[in-house]
Amino acid sequence: MTNQHQDKFDLLRQMRERSRQGGGAERIERQHKNKKMTARERIELLLDVGSFREVDAFVVQRSRDFGMDRPENQYLGDSVVTGWGTIDGRLVYVYSQDFTVFGGSLSEVHSEKICKVMEMAVKNGAPIIGLNDSGGARIQEGVVSLGGYADIFLRNTLASGVIPQISAIMGPCAGGAVYSPALTDFIFMVQDTSYMFVTGPDVVKAVTHEDVSFEDLGGASIHSATSGVCHVSTPSEADCLYMIRELLSYLPQNNMEDAPPKPSRDDALRTDERLNAIVPDNPNKPYDIKEVINMIVDDGHFFEIHEHYAPNIVVGFARLGGRSVGIVANQPMVLAGVLDIDASEKAARFIRFCDCFNIPIITFEDVPGFMPGVKQEHGGIIRAGAKLLYAYCEATVPKLTVITRKAYGGAYDVMSSKHIRGDLNLAWPTAEIAVMGPDGAVNIIFRRELAEAADPVAKKAELVAMYREKFANPYVAASRGFIDDVIMPAETRARLINGLNMLQNKRDENPPKKHGNIPL
Ligand code: HXC
Repeated sequence: MTNQHQDKFDLLRQMRERSRQGGGAERIERQHKNKKMTARERIELLLDVGSFREVDAFVVQRSRDFGMDRPENQYLGDSVVTGWGTIDGRLVYVYSQDFTVFGGSLSEVHSEKICKVMEMAVKNGAPIIGLNDSGGARIQEGVVSLGGYADIFLRNTLASGVIPQISAIMGPCAGGAVYSPALTDFIFMVQDTSYMFVTGPDVVKAVTHEDVSFEDLGGASIHSATSGVCHVSTPSEADCLYMIRELLSYLPQNNMEDAPPKPSRDDALRTDERLNAIVPDNPNKPYDIKEVINMIVDDGHFFEIHEHYAPNIVVGFARLGGRSVGIVANQPMVLAGVLDIDASEKAARFIRFCDCFNIPIITFEDVPGFMPGVKQEHGGIIRAGAKLLYAYCEATVPKLTVITRKAYGGAYDVMSSKHIRGDLNLAWPTAEIAVMGPDGAVNIIFRRELAEAADPVAKKAELVAMYREKFANPYVAASRGFIDDVIMPAETRARLINGLNMLQNKRDENPPKKHGNIPL
């Protein structure tokens, strides 16, 4: 039986097919040749199978200049694919720039499509994920395209702290276009096929006479290790999409919810005797704080953020007793875990993310202090350190701290101390809490005795030992209640899970204000 509407149904099918073709078979092949997936292939891999629902597949660009009104320039859906779907059954919104249509460049309608799904994401309280692969502003559209970017920037900013925003860079991302990802919470980059810069190598050459390749200027490695723009770099697009799925598993859908629990078989009361032996006898010898984290968290699984940037501090997500937590840990293996500018900013941003999205913060502390030096002072360690301090002070999520070894000087105060609303402050017996390390302290307070000593070396050793015995332990702080308890390292997991349970209904707030003035 023929349906009287058959023609109309056929037209719909044809239009859908045309839209799915993007810039056509040739350009798709070119994309594949360049080791890149198409916009739709990426969405398929990112979302649960069959869950994607597209919107605006029939939108076309409106430009009439430079022959853009010719039929062959009317690509259904234009240069971005938008819609929603699920990841592990949870709603997410997504946009994926289609490089096969005008190089994924941003036209007026491209911007409108992105803004539409961003607004839906905020209204419905679900994360938005942007898959970026674009030649930047649609050159034929001029200022209209620039306006489109600004429309996105505004929405990124308004959505900040309301829903998680995640960006993947899977091709070019240049000029002002970089600022939309930069306004989001996490940037993922794919090694060798993605780059980000404000001005490309040619402009750099013209202005500063520096010769630099695309990769060295703004590739994944540079942004992961040097600039810190990239939070997670991955060897392939498939890895990138998989990692985004995993990251989302630690996050709530929006700022009004808690992250979903993920029960594990890992016993909440499990002790680990290896922890009792992990801090070396010699206080100047390092150990790997990541090993400590892995021994404590559920199933030894830690999702690290900013792995290659400022490795003297470690941040990332894990679970304890099935509950999602953000971990901030000084890393004695790198620069003795000192706090420098980059480490302070890295941790501050992570702490603020956790606080926005109701994720408790666990701090492992072993820090000799802030990094000394002209470079650090002139670079603004005061301002950077203040960011970290501010972030910890303003955070109202449960804050649990474990001092494993050194907690010296200002860094003691900064790293989630009791004084700045730490909820549960624990220390291992190996903790040393003091104004500064014994060596420096003895040099200052016993300067005269050392100068007058017959054997200054022996005298110094004697004074250092005395200082260490008196101050380099957790009991002075514990006697004041600055430390709630001194625990055996092996018990740390059980104590933290107990603490999280105790704090699960925590209520705390900051005074009403428009917003604070974090020292940016
Ligand atoms: C319109 C563009 C385009 C753009 C690329 N195309 N960029 N169309 N506007 N910005 C088109 C090309 O004409 C080509 O069309 C197709 O996309 C693929 O481009 P190719 O050059 O063939 O690809 P490739 O060799 O891989 O080089 C990619 C590229 C290069 C490095 C991105 O295309 C490029 O340099 N584009 C211009 C980048 C740029 O200067 N953008 C403006 C930046 S300023 P066909 O029909 O052949 O497939 C900016 C300001 C934003 O973005 C400000 C926000 C505040």
